[in-house]
Amino acid sequence: MTKDRGGGRRAYVESRECISAERQMATDRLSGRLDRVTTGPTEKAERMLELIDITKVYKGGKRAVDGFSLHLGPGLLGLLGPNGAGKSSLMRIVATVTRPTSGRLHYRGTDALARPELLRRRLGYLPQDFGVYPNLTSREFLGYLAAAKGLSARSARARIEELLALVNLTEAVKRPLGAYSGGMLRRIGIAQALLADPQVIVVDEPTAGLDPEERVRFRNLLSELSVERVVLLSTHIVPDIESVASDIAVVAGGRLLRRGTPEQLAGELSGQVWELLVKPDAVTALQGRYPVSRMVRTADGVRLRVLADRAPSDDAVPVAPDLEDAYLGIVRQAAPNPAGGTTPGGPLRQQAVRR
Ligand SMILES: Nc1ncnc2c1ncn2[C@@H]1O[C@H](COP(=O)(O)OP(=O)(O)O)[C@@H](O)[C@H]1O
Ligand SMILES: [Mg+2]
Repeated sequence: MTKDRGGGRRAYVESRECISAERQMATDRLSGRLDRVTTGPTEKAERMLELIDITKVYKGGKRAVDGFSLHLGPGLLGLLGPNGAGKSSLMRIVATVTRPTSGRLHYRGTDALARPELLRRRLGYLPQDFGVYPNLTSREFLGYLAAAKGLSARSARARIEELLALVNLTEAVKRPLGAYSGGMLRRIGIAQALLADPQVIVVDEPTAGLDPEERVRFRNLLSELSVERVVLLSTHIVPDIESVASDIAVVAGGRLLRRGTPEQLAGELSGQVWELLVKPDAVTALQGRYPVSRMVRTADGVRLRVLADRAPSDDAVPVAPDLEDAYLGIVRQAAPNPAGGTTPGGPLRQQAVRR
């Protein structure tokens, strides 16, 4: 439903019906394609890590992860989802820091919940809220963590020098960590995750706070690492994942919504992304009717990029969908009314454009 035909209550009821049909279709699609959804497009025959029907309910009743299944082989998987989607909860479970309320976690066929030490030994984890001791130098800090991980002092020394070179911090080793930039601290975070030569690398929002140059360097590092290892990276920023991961899992509300290459995900919206130029005072009305994936102010007005089944206006131009469009479409389709608003012409009607 792309046009407001009757307004008021009728439009509200119509849009509600449209949304529940849409929801049902999405549910059918999800259950019908569950195996494709969970195993992804590039999976090798080997399943190094399997998350099976994992649910996490926190004290107080918050269901942060809800029946989540995912199979991973070597390579980089990008976990993409809005804040609160459950990404960090999932990563803490994979890192065996938190136990799920229900579900199973297998590492190379062994039960990693019953025997977490097997996975832990081969795991590197960079938590989202990674903290350091500001008075230690990077060498001291990594040395301390290496000892905590049980590495011998001798092998730790060699490994630390190797890692400092890998993350390009050799020149900064004499300075205390308190004097490091955000990007440098992230790199120390990566270095500590690699201390024990892990087979499974879990990095939670690692690109937050990095400048563009650091982002590029970091992406290249992860790409190299993922040749033989499982790398699970989370972010809520589409451009951060687009160029680094060819395998993307979209998560919201604790659920896996889709998995695929950026091209596959974008392809689902073929024919449903439009660009149009409008006057500034028309923007709010359009935002009320269509999901808007981008908006740029120009000298001639505001250029909007919207998702819609049919052309939203006569002068709208169809454009090739990209991952940003796909992400918006997938997340909105799964949770049409996240803000809880129910006013006609409000968030509900926005969703009625996709069937
Ligand atoms: N320790 C906790 N106790 C209670 N609720 C939590 C806890 N950790 C996370 N949550 C809640 O679970 C949901 C998912 O959070 P999180 O896993 O951090 O998501 P994300 O990393 O995708 O932002 C959020 O609603 C969050 O507030
Ligand atoms: Mg998080």
